[in-house]
Amino acid sequence: MQRILVTGGAGYIGSHTCLRLLEEGYDVLVVDNFCNSKSESLERVKQITGRSLTFYEVNICDRNAMQKIFEAHDIDAVIHFAGLKAVGESVQKPMEYYYNNVYGTLVLCEEMAKAGVKNIVFSSSATVYGLSDDVPFAEDAPTSATNPYGRTKLFIENILSDLKIADKDWSITLLRYFNPVGAHKSGLIGEDPNGIPNNLMPYISQVAVGRLEKLQVLGDDYPTTDGTGVRDYIHVMDLAEGHVKALQGPKIENGPAIYNLGTGKGNSVLEVVKAFENENGIEIPYQIIARRAGDVASSYADPSKAEKHLKWKAKLNLQDMVRDAWNWQKKNPEGYA
Ligand code: NAD
Ligand code: WQD
Repeated sequence: MQRILVTGGAGYIGSHTCLRLLEEGYDVLVVDNFCNSKSESLERVKQITGRSLTFYEVNICDRNAMQKIFEAHDIDAVIHFAGLKAVGESVQKPMEYYYNNVYGTLVLCEEMAKAGVKNIVFSSSATVYGLSDDVPFAEDAPTSATNPYGRTKLFIENILSDLKIADKDWSITLLRYFNPVGAHKSGLIGEDPNGIPNNLMPYISQVAVGRLEKLQVLGDDYPTTDGTGVRDYIHVMDLAEGHVKALQGPKIENGPAIYNLGTGKGNSVLEVVKAFENENGIEIPYQIIARRAGDVASSYADPSKAEKHLKWKAKLNLQDMVRDAWNWQKKNPEGYA
């Protein structure tokens, strides 16, 4: 069976993807420096799957350590999640974001090439569609960035595209995720952000569990059905499945393969709140406050390309997402701590 190196595999999306890879019979190696995760997530992945995985507490920017890993194992492909992802923090600490995300990817790809491993699946983001409101977004829509985090994604997409032009032996897949939420149905793994969550679903879950008092709805004057922001929420297990499909996807000759991973359906903030309340029988107190700088009114995917070429389609709906998010949070009120 193929052996996959997963960078950032202890994180939220990485841990769910490792689980699906192990279930599919792949051998899995994880490289993570645990700067935004805990090794407990990987222990639980082992517990759920009954399979083992190898992990290295290594920073992907550490060239020597990365070289040793590629020398020690016969690796077939890399799924590259490792990166910093907080938009606001990236504005405060741009150099940290460029170093970690962009330089880290350069080191990774150079060490891959030296080892003759030329197959990478990269975590990009719907953030590359910038401030456009021309929804749904197809993969050929114009791209731009509005903050350093988004720019790291755009730079890395461009770097990997250039790598493919220079050396056709590479297989490069750029997956643009929309808004990943939810958790594995066991409730043993899930999203465990540090500090006060930036994102909607973990915020709602922490209000539900009593860690936060109420949700702040960031603006109700957008040109949407109820005035609140509309996003394409996608269940993290559907996303994980998308990575398995990407590994098995068709090889593209001229350029990277780029796919949106979204459901194609947008939901407003208040629809998510209502779905959480109805599905879980818990009231979520909220207050409307001003818009957050840099937020767009609506963002959702045209996911038809992934369906056509990867035979992948999101199967889980908003009810599944809010149920599984809550199942994880109520079983782990303090996350992995
Ligand atoms: P996460 O923070 O939970 O996972 C990222 C993991 O990478 C963490 O375990 C962290 O410790 C590790 N990491 C970071 N820098 C590292 C380094 N230099 N060396 C080794 N490990 C390092 O985030 P996530 O939500 O699972 O996101 C995974 C990827 O998907 C990220 O690249 C993120 O930008 C991208 N993405 C996330 C979202 C989202 O909303 N969650 C949306 C689009 C794209
Ligand atoms: C969703 C909706 C908010 C928090 C971010 C990144 C993006 C990508 C996914 C990585 C919006 C509203 C939120 C709150 C609220 N990540 N909201 N109260 O902004 O679509 O995307 O995560 O690539 O790059 O920017 O996700 O979950 O923060 O917000 O009302 O406390 O919820 O205004 O309409 P976003 P989000």
